[in-house]
Amino acid sequence: MNNRVIVKVPASTANLGPGFDTLGMALSLYAWIEMSAAEKTTFRLFGDNMQGIPTDKSNLLYEVAQLVFDEAGVSVPELEVAMYSDIPLARGLGSSATAIVGALVAANALIGGPLSDDKLFQLATKLEGHPDNVGASLFGGIVVSAWDGERADYVKLTPHAKLETLVAIPAFQLSTEKARHALPSQISMADAVFNVGRSSLLVAALASGELGLIRHAMRDRLHQPYRAPLIPGMSTILEHATEYGALGAALSGAGPTLIAFVEAGSKNDSGLEPFLLGTLKQEGIAAETMRLKPCLDGPVITVEDIASPAQDLMDRIKGEVVR
Ligand code: HSE
Repeated sequence: MNNRVIVKVPASTANLGPGFDTLGMALSLYAWIEMSAAEKTTFRLFGDNMQGIPTDKSNLLYEVAQLVFDEAGVSVPELEVAMYSDIPLARGLGSSATAIVGALVAANALIGGPLSDDKLFQLATKLEGHPDNVGASLFGGIVVSAWDGERADYVKLTPHAKLETLVAIPAFQLSTEKARHALPSQISMADAVFNVGRSSLLVAALASGELGLIRHAMRDRLHQPYRAPLIPGMSTILEHATEYGALGAALSGAGPTLIAFVEAGSKNDSGLEPFLLGTLKQEGIAAETMRLKPCLDGPVITVEDIASPAQDLMDRIKGEVVR
């Protein structure tokens, strides 16, 4: 336990339109967690995205780490934890999933890695309540998963080399809980069949690299129509994004971020960013855009001897942070 662990975890977009609670893709926006055993538990949380997060043992990172130690049958009651995140909170970019995955992976690495990736995935899915964001953050790439409440199974796909995204992140937060409450408890057989078709087609298109199919495959009748009233401008964006050069567009996770898939190097999408920002602005919504690539791999883990000179987390990552 004489180690210091630093874990860099990717953000994620979930659902990708029709694949509600099933599809996720890791994105090139990151959170960093540093963890070591200590005499007394302390937290250093850096950046705007950490505001309001508890700095006592009710902190999610601490609780998740203890779960790993319990599973492994070891005791590490006191921890020194630091975290910085570039991932905005409650915007549909998987910030809570990165915290869960980061804490699981860091705690496991701290005690020599007794738990398998599959075990970490099972724990992460149970904690998050669905496998899509945690799967993408844990494995990287595009992750197709299904969870029956007991076990989550998954397949990882490597995104097409030219697949990139443009995200429009509204300035307001939307809790996943509120966005899930907007969903009906039942849907029609016709809508279920519609979504099975689109989601299957999307997975096949992403697996085979047929980017031209994405525009037909990214449509959804399971959750987006019901969430649209919570995100003014969303319906217009989803309907017209392809006219501005997007390969397809979706609500990112539970929102409010909107994500457009684009082709790297394409000259057709120069109007997309103004379209996204202009549509939201018309509804009185300020937003920022980011061009994000898929992140192909899961967490990057660095393990150091605790006796080596400690470098401040912010100094260590300063060349990599974007916000
Ligand atoms: N699949 C989840 C949802 C993602 O859409 O509610 C939320 O993080």
